[in-house]
Amino acid sequence: MSNKNNLGTKFIHAGAHPDPSTGAIMTPIYQTSTYVQSAPGVHKGYEYARSQNPTRFALEEAFAVIENGKYGLAFASGVAATDAVMRLLVPGDEVIAAHDMYGGSFRLFSKVHEKMGIKFIYVDTSNAENVANAITPATKLIWVETPTNPLMNITDIEAVSKIGNANNCIVCVDNTFASPYLQNPLDFGATIVMHSATKYLGGHSDVIQGCLVMNDETLRDQLYFIQKSTGAVPGP
Ligand SMILES: Cc1ncc(COP(=O)(O)O)c(C=O)c1O
Repeated sequence: MSNKNNLGTKFIHAGAHPDPSTGAIMTPIYQTSTYVQSAPGVHKGYEYARSQNPTRFALEEAFAVIENGKYGLAFASGVAATDAVMRLLVPGDEVIAAHDMYGGSFRLFSKVHEKMGIKFIYVDTSNAENVANAITPATKLIWVETPTNPLMNITDIEAVSKIGNANNCIVCVDNTFASPYLQNPLDFGATIVMHSATKYLGGHSDVIQGCLVMNDETLRDQLYFIQKSTGAVPGP
């Protein structure tokens, strides 16, 4: 049932606008890779579906609305969304991450991004003091998962976000296990929310997908650039 935040209405209507070409109430699946140009560079805002697709844009808006954020980005998987966040960093940057989190995130950090010169410091984020103590001038990102998969450990998003914001660090919260029905990390000061949309957002065990939601436009532009440049987008 809908609660005081009108969640039921949001979940049904988010991102859905009548289709401008036909008036279709439900967002059509634009099953196209490319779009016609009447002359080179002359088009309707859509060139190539890795960069722009109306179906994906509707989904991205829905992600943003249900997480109380301004901008959403959809990815081919939750891991692809996590990977995009890590690509904001440069060699020498440090990340504080939870010592207990989804194993695939740990694998991505330790086997892929560590080789690129990113340093990961793993702490028990359920005690925010551990996060504060691990901050160094090189810390650029704090990665929180709450509740964690599979141990269900809880981190105080507000406390960790305060520490991150005071130290100019991005705070990214993997909100997969809570779902936006129960928890909206941006409301507590987090910079980015990440989901394995494969889980509760997909809901039927029939899709692999990930998303990021944020309020900061510059960050959105950086992550959109990474999304289209590395290409881990979901098909229409
Ligand atoms: C908490 C959490 N984060 C991230 C992921 C990775 O998502 P995906 O499997 O969609 O790549 C998972 C997958 O199980 C997860 O449970």
